[in-house]
Amino acid sequence: MLNGKVALVTGGSRGLGRADALALARAGADVVITDILVESDAGSAVRAEKYGPLNQVMQSTGVVFAEQTAAEIRAMGRRAAVFKMDVTDRAEVRQVVARVKEEFGAIHILVNNAATLDHVAQLENQKDDLWERDLLVNLTGTFNCCKAVWPYMKEQGWGRIVNTASVAGTMGGFGQASYATTKAGVLGLTKSLALEGARYNITVNAVVPGIINTEAFRTGNPKMNERMINRTAFRRPGEPEDVANAVVFLASDNAKYITGVALNVSGGIELFTF
Ligand SMILES: NC(=O)c1ccc[n+]([C@@H]2O[C@H](COP(=O)([O-])OP(=O)(O)OC[C@H]3O[C@@H](n4cnc5c(N)ncnc54)[C@H](O)[C@@H]3O)[C@@H](O)[C@H]2O)c1
Repeated sequence: MLNGKVALVTGGSRGLGRADALALARAGADVVITDILVESDAGSAVRAEKYGPLNQVMQSTGVVFAEQTAAEIRAMGRRAAVFKMDVTDRAEVRQVVARVKEEFGAIHILVNNAATLDHVAQLENQKDDLWERDLLVNLTGTFNCCKAVWPYMKEQGWGRIVNTASVAGTMGGFGQASYATTKAGVLGLTKSLALEGARYNITVNAVVPGIINTEAFRTGNPKMNERMINRTAFRRPGEPEDVANAVVFLASDNAKYITGVALNVSGGIELFTF
């Protein structure tokens, strides 16, 4: 489905981003994996600290697979590259995107997946600095990446942007004021860019995951996780591949008349389950 296409995934070192990268490659795309954490990069530890406890845990327990994932993709016969890229750093985002164009010849697909998920507290305990961080990474970061790829997609008259929202953004999330707000913002951005992109044959859509069994999810409070799982129609979490399959579909020509949608991959968590 995606032969000859070049895809860039943000936050691709683990979890959904890694699954997206592998699924895009399985569908035929060459894939560029970007993240603040990269196995061989000594600066990762410092960046893990800057972006919060979850990243620190993952960094210290070796849950960083950017280079390993690129090797798996090359073994499939596709081209792959890894770049350290902080989505909040506009200059770096622009540099990486320009390098991808130079080295891979094009940039067809952008999957905005990078996010911070570890700020869980009720309003009075929401931390001001983490509110700012979440807005910066999840919302402004998505905006930065869309803006950087836009001229290339416009010029080639073909582009696919898939943003990663969350049911927290569509339903709200108890103790997730900052996170839910950023994900609701991502949906507003998605719809606005869908309107602007259509004339250039650029589609902009969002996947809306529910409870997905990633490393990040597994670090969560087991009791809370159980309660959330029990709200799904299936009474089980989704797998990263469930989201990745939706990403591949939205990135493909099969979805050429679909733009501005928020596609739930949520096991029916938003339904009236009892
Ligand atoms: N896992 C779930 O249940 C779930 C549910 C709904 C939505 N989501 C969304 O799916 C996406 C992936 O979630 P996940 O569970 O794999 O989380 P995760 O924390 O494992 O992955 C996030 C990735 O983003 C990277 N990252 C963080 N800050 C960055 C920055 N400034 N620049 C570049 N990369 C950065 C991290 O290093 C990490 O590799 C996120 O957008 C998340 O909000 C996940």
